[in-house]
Amino acid sequence: MKFVSEAEIKNKKVLLRVDFNVDLDENGKILSDFRMRAALATINYLIENGAAKVIVASHLGEPKGKEEKFSLRPVAEHLSQLLNKPVSFLTDCVGEEIKKEINQVGNAAVWFLENLRFHPEEKNNDEEFARELASLADIYVNDAFGVCHRSNASVSAITKFLPSFGGLLLKKELDNLNKVMVSPVKPLVLILGGAKISTKLPLIKSFSGLADKILLGGAIANTFLKANNFAVGQSLVEDEMLSEAAQIGSAETELVLPGDFLVGESISASRAIARRLGAVGEKEWILDIGPASALMYADIIQKAKTIIWNGPMGYCENPVFGEGTKKVLEAIAASSAFSVIGGGDTLTVLEKSGLVEKISFVSTGGGAMLSYLANEEMPGLKDLN
Ligand code: 3PG
Repeated sequence: MKFVSEAEIKNKKVLLRVDFNVDLDENGKILSDFRMRAALATINYLIENGAAKVIVASHLGEPKGKEEKFSLRPVAEHLSQLLNKPVSFLTDCVGEEIKKEINQVGNAAVWFLENLRFHPEEKNNDEEFARELASLADIYVNDAFGVCHRSNASVSAITKFLPSFGGLLLKKELDNLNKVMVSPVKPLVLILGGAKISTKLPLIKSFSGLADKILLGGAIANTFLKANNFAVGQSLVEDEMLSEAAQIGSAETELVLPGDFLVGESISASRAIARRLGAVGEKEWILDIGPASALMYADIIQKAKTIIWNGPMGYCENPVFGEGTKKVLEAIAASSAFSVIGGGDTLTVLEKSGLVEKISFVSTGGGAMLSYLANEEMPGLKDLN
């Protein structure tokens, strides 16, 4: 893979694919600009190295056609504040009008295209659409690690039509994730939580044999508990994954399940009840790991030299069930191990905690981080190569 540091940039128009798929509130206010700040280095690098125009492209959400609530306009405005430079927003991402506007002499250096997913061709990896996008620029830079697991036109097909390079953030992601995959300093502890075991199973499989311990929490743990015939009451479980969960294991890697829980009568319960393993009532929901498990996990984390974490330990949307996740995060922050954290919900907790600086590397990828760590082929990376 070639990176932007090897590209001839001077006087070139650069199409820069970023992942600014950020959460907005109903007034268009950005709830977290972490992904945006992470991409500033590449934008500044391109400007400082004399790019004629930097044309920023991203998707936002899953729009069905041109839905105003998925417009990237507020994101472009925020980028202008972060860069402290004018950013010209374009109301589409392809077409003659757009090309004309970008090519006007004397216009701003940074342009921002409207949501790529306003065109269904983006998600279909459509070659004609990719060719049109490519016609806006002279070179292409992919700094959108978070979307490299998708076979989308702006990360995959586009590489057929322009000289293509990885951005500085993309390089940083790969370097840091490689550190935990290739000869990691041991003991290596992988911590996985969140709702769906199906999205994390490939990662569990690829780290079975490599990690010393895999600590499980969230609804993922429920599926393993049920597979081992422990009572889980009404808790969220992926029944179709039970037989696979029952078979996972390796001599080198210990799969650690919580031994106590906080349960509630529903996900909106205002009171948490402590329960031991096997004592969860039929009408109860497991919504967090219990205090003894949180202590046990913290102790394992303290002894680790490499830590990877994706997915909360409980239903943190309800603060009554956020304690286990908080304890795990505090233990990681206090550790001197090399730590990598990723995933949307995990980042929300991390940013609220004010502990971001204590983590060695925070990935901008959710699904992309899981996919990379699971050694899956990622279209965006494959095509850059
Ligand atoms: C993400 O938020 O994980 C990436 O931007 C990919 O988004 P997608 O899951 O909508 O493809």
